[in-house]
Amino acid sequence: TTETEAELIGKYEVLSMYKPREKFSHKGTFGHSLIIGGSYGKIGSVTLASRGALSSGAGLVTNYIPKCGYTILQSSFPEAMVITDTNDEFITAIDFDIKPNAIGIGVGLGTNTKTISAFEAFLKSNKTPLVIDADGLNIIAKKKTLLKLLPEQTILTPHPKELERLIGKWKDDFDKLKKVKAFSKKYNIIVVIKGANTITVFNEKLYVNSTGNPGLATGGTGDVLTGVITGLLAQGYNPLIAALFGVYLHGKSADIAVEDLGYQSLIASHVIEALGEAYIDLF
Ligand code: APR
Ligand code: MG
Repeated sequence: TTETEAELIGKYEVLSMYKPREKFSHKGTFGHSLIIGGSYGKIGSVTLASRGALSSGAGLVTNYIPKCGYTILQSSFPEAMVITDTNDEFITAIDFDIKPNAIGIGVGLGTNTKTISAFEAFLKSNKTPLVIDADGLNIIAKKKTLLKLLPEQTILTPHPKELERLIGKWKDDFDKLKKVKAFSKKYNIIVVIKGANTITVFNEKLYVNSTGNPGLATGGTGDVLTGVITGLLAQGYNPLIAALFGVYLHGKSADIAVEDLGYQSLIASHVIEALGEAYIDLF
């Protein structure tokens, strides 16, 4: 067995990652995030991710979604821009003429064969820093050769089931971490193992998050995390920092939100709404 270095990520560590806002900054300074995802009945996941991206401090956010989501997204989140696919209910070709600084892909995406082809074509041409979640991970799990197409230090954010699809079953926690380390090293990617104690794995190292609570066990909180990390990447944080900072802020927001709401009534939108207080809590 090999010794593994593990670091606990608390307020002190996160504060050393934080980049203050300069007075003469403008929205272009903070980058443009692109969220790609959504399908009929799952447009909300994209709304949550893009709200997470903008509230993490990104300057601009655009969403690439199927046509059916156009009015929903524009009305529910007027701060975001929208580009639609030619198809109504799911994405069939990932084609855009903007130059985002970071892309988050996979939330609510679905796994229609046409969506899978579009995802594959996108990975073949994409060079922009990437966060992959949900169905993006499920597609990769079915077609592991896609892992070779990922930009270096791409961030994957699987929940336990998605992780199992990617790396297979594990015997115990020790075995799981060993497998994730090997997986991360092989493809030079960052893996955020979501759960009660989120652990991020990169470069043979483990980073254990110190925030978050069971109030987060509610639909859509994972989508918010994808957006927050994508938003931090767009702001120029390097991928490992974006992942660690994002996981910390997301958990801290939930910790702040449950003080008023309790575990039961917390929903994903509350996590977004508390992001500001999570930032302020750093100081
Ligand atoms: N304690 C602390 N944090 C928790 C806990 C807990 N007990 N339970 C969950 N969380 C956190 C996770 O760490 C993660 O950040 O809540 C978030 C849940 O993310 P997901 O499991 O991805 O859930 P979500 O995205 O909301 O689910 C919606 O997306 O990934 C797909 O298949 C998934 O259909 C599902 C959909
Ligand atoms: Mg999820």
